[in-house]
Amino acid sequence: MDLAIETNNLKRYFGDIHAVDGIDLAVPKGSLFGFLGPNGAGKTTTISMLSTVLPPTSGKANILGYDLKKESNKIKECIGVCPQDIVLYERLTARENIHLIAQMHGLKKADYKERTDDLLGRMNLLDRVNSLVKTYSGGMKRRVNVLMAVIHEPELIFFDEPTAGLDPQSRRVVWDFIKDFQKKKSTIILTTHNMEEADDLSDELIIIDNGKIITQGTPSNLKGRLGEGDIVEFKVDEAINREKIIPRIKDLNFVKWVKPIGKRRILLNGLDALRHISKIMDAVKVKMLDISIRENTLEDVFIDLTGRRLRD
Ligand SMILES: Nc1ncnc2c1ncn2[C@@H]1O[C@H](COP(=O)(O)OP(=O)(O)OP(=O)(O)O)[C@@H](O)[C@H]1O
Ligand SMILES: [Mg+2]
Repeated sequence: MDLAIETNNLKRYFGDIHAVDGIDLAVPKGSLFGFLGPNGAGKTTTISMLSTVLPPTSGKANILGYDLKKESNKIKECIGVCPQDIVLYERLTARENIHLIAQMHGLKKADYKERTDDLLGRMNLLDRVNSLVKTYSGGMKRRVNVLMAVIHEPELIFFDEPTAGLDPQSRRVVWDFIKDFQKKKSTIILTTHNMEEADDLSDELIIIDNGKIITQGTPSNLKGRLGEGDIVEFKVDEAINREKIIPRIKDLNFVKWVKPIGKRRILLNGLDALRHISKIMDAVKVKMLDISIRENTLEDVFIDLTGRRLRD
């Protein structure tokens, strides 16, 4: 298989903090590869290393056939990075910001002029194209930042939380935009702590926690590992001892597993749970403060592996 990124035991420590703690990656060329993980998991640090911004503490990486340590200049020419922290020239317009990046990459005006306006149109930014970026909303700035990563049509693009702070409508626009690059055979790395985003967009993804990959697979493959049942989640009063309730639920023959999460919640996986809901209530005995039933999600995969939510 042709790989866009291959890493071997990649690490980055900041003093005592093991931000990235031995990551082995194999990202196929042309894939949309997700990094899903909570705050502080090490997603941005990994991207900073792979995009040549931050030297690793140890380990190896090969990006598009180039060695990260020895050939970082070659790598820089073939990648695009949309950083988590927005970087824009506030005193320029959106169009000028993108032109400037195009010039930095050595593109000719004939090549970038139309492309810039086409990109701005696809991000619904054309009507404000002549205003200074400092007059833009946060969501508009984020969308300009996404465009600045792709104007030179790089082979490999890193999007670090490209939809952070966007409303649902703009988020859709960015998702469609990113999916278009996949069609054009670029390789895309997308970080997010939004499980729907990771699920919807990734061909394959890793879940990262505390600087380590805790699992890897396609979204359906990962969710499939939790079994075929539904997820039932409910809340009980803080005074209730959940350790007394959990064994009673485990005894139900359609229940596959039960876990306490957070301070007051219980999560279970059961086959055909909706039909059995009254049996669950009978087993719980105490009052439920709320209850939800759903198909399992990538967040449930994370909870299953760590006992925590993606966002506590
Ligand atoms: N320059 C730095 N100096 C010290 N610690 C750092 C530095 N950069 C990152 N860290 C630490 O490394 C860990 C990983 O941070 P990182 O930004 O990679 O996480 P992340 O997965 O991108 O999180 P988020 O979802 O919040 O963006 C955190 O504990 C963070 O505090
Ligand atoms: Mg980050």
